[in-house]
Amino acid sequence: MNLSNLQQTLAQPKTPCRIRCCTVGGCLSANGLAVKTALQTAVADHHLAEQVKVKGVGCLGLCSKGPLVQIDPDGRLYEQVTPEQATQLVQMATDSSWSDDLSEPRIRPSDFQPDQHPFFTQQQHIVLENSGKVDPEKIEDYVALQGYAALYRVLREYSPDEVTKAIAQSGLRGRGGAGYPTGLKWETVAKMPPGQKYVVCNADEGDPGAYMDRSVLESDPHRVLEGMAIAAYAVGATQGYIYVRGEYPLAINHLQTAIQQARKHGLLGSQIFDSPLDFRIDLRIGAGAFVCGEETALMASIEGRRGIPEQRPPYPAESGLWGRPTLINNVETYANIAPIIRNGADWFAGIGTGKSKGTKVFSLTGKVQNAGLIEVPMGISLQAIVDDIGGGAAAGRSVKAVQTGGPSGGCIPASAFETSVDYESLKQLGSIMGSGGLIVMDDQTSMVDVARYFMEFCMEESCGKCIPCRAGTVQLYQLLCKFTQGQANSADLTQLEQLCDMVKHTSLCGLGQAAPNPVISTLQYFRGEYLALM
Ligand SMILES: Cc1cc2nc3c(=O)[nH]c(=O)nc-3n(C[C@H](O)[C@H](O)[C@H](O)COP(=O)(O)O)c2cc1C
Ligand code: SF4
Ligand code: FES
Repeated sequence: MNLSNLQQTLAQPKTPCRIRCCTVGGCLSANGLAVKTALQTAVADHHLAEQVKVKGVGCLGLCSKGPLVQIDPDGRLYEQVTPEQATQLVQMATDSSWSDDLSEPRIRPSDFQPDQHPFFTQQQHIVLENSGKVDPEKIEDYVALQGYAALYRVLREYSPDEVTKAIAQSGLRGRGGAGYPTGLKWETVAKMPPGQKYVVCNADEGDPGAYMDRSVLESDPHRVLEGMAIAAYAVGATQGYIYVRGEYPLAINHLQTAIQQARKHGLLGSQIFDSPLDFRIDLRIGAGAFVCGEETALMASIEGRRGIPEQRPPYPAESGLWGRPTLINNVETYANIAPIIRNGADWFAGIGTGKSKGTKVFSLTGKVQNAGLIEVPMGISLQAIVDDIGGGAAAGRSVKAVQTGGPSGGCIPASAFETSVDYESLKQLGSIMGSGGLIVMDDQTSMVDVARYFMEFCMEESCGKCIPCRAGTVQLYQLLCKFTQGQANSADLTQLEQLCDMVKHTSLCGLGQAAPNPVISTLQYFRGEYLALM
């Protein structure tokens, strides 16, 4: 089948008006499915099926204000919608007018136009371009928005080498945390001798406060499959795995549906788009260990062994799953691939800063007014994220710091908020870009408590293989507890700093090596809070 046949087969009739209802993540927990059902009932009761269509869609961005509903064609967005408001919404959608006669509670003043609201105006959507637009369970929706066009194009017009070069030229770096150049990784796997190779998607997302990957998978799963298939063509792999955490049942469900649909339409399996490419994808479900997000532990888990990290080198690109060359990338990394092919490497390289190209998805959470899922161009300031997009702290409070990079990251004080969000600048401040958790803290937050919280997390998630991490995180946690309980002295502070240094430099894997970061950064910027507790 060629692309236009696929598009014709999956073409859908258009309705003049659409009501899009977020039915994933936070909105689902806030009764979003009942809102969607009530909207569908209202449409049926008023015989409006010809005029208006109700769609379940993925994340619309402002997750903290869910359930969210958006009405096309003018794009008004309604917050905290209840099932009781369904009739009123349907009437407004079809009339485009406002009636005072309605008995249901009014929805205003929470409705607004996304193109005028600061939460949206500073964002740039590449990875999230389809989120909230497509029904994640419908391949038709994805194909209607150029889905699988990039895969078709590379199979017809590019050699595998040209694909790898395009990704390298785009400047894309891994979005899983370390920021390793994606093109270089693909090139290493591609250059390994022919034979069985694997493509793996790391969807184990375990950082507290991070839900970017879950949202991408729940909202637009085909985009990740397409990125993986393009990667398979580039590196010469025939088998792919998505390692997704078991705590994400909806993401798993949407992935299973997407894989079945892609197989049915010849987009996965043998001879994809009638080309020589054979590529299948299977899911592997993680059992909740944070350390299984580390690539060597992840591979051990896929192979059915206990998920504990191993010494590198060899790197997975050379010797990965069952000793074969394996490409491992993060969900968001794969989600960038199709747009890069569609729009060109130079287009992507034109967004962002010198060494940090493109955009970054963040889950903006904590003590901020507009919490939700955002995608911003690299190089934007933290100030713009926290104050403009996030709307700043609640009335009467002030923002004190943001935490980026989860348990491996650090806390950045408000005085450094002019800093550009890119890999190098965040590292210079003692934090990291990480995978995209961005937690805002206000003047009521104890930074020592924040450090203690993350250390407890690392202590519990340490696999125990090496002593510095296994014993060091426990000792660090105990010392931090002495501070939070007001029982620490100056010798404890000295020991805290020495232990941080030791654990950082002698642990085997990234979990232990980065575990002291939240302590080190809070000591650097908020030392006074430690001293005040002694
Ligand atoms: C303790 C630990 C947990 C990790 N968890 C994840 C994760 O959940 N998702 C992820 O993509 N990468 C995670 N990583 C990074 C991976 O090991 C790996 O670098 C990444 O998947 C590579 O993909 P990328 O190049 O696209 O970023 C983790 C690393 C460590 C040390
Ligand atoms: S650093 Fe921690 S998590 Fe990593 S291997 Fe050592 S004990 Fe396990
Ligand atoms: S989950 Fe509904 S807006 Fe994000």
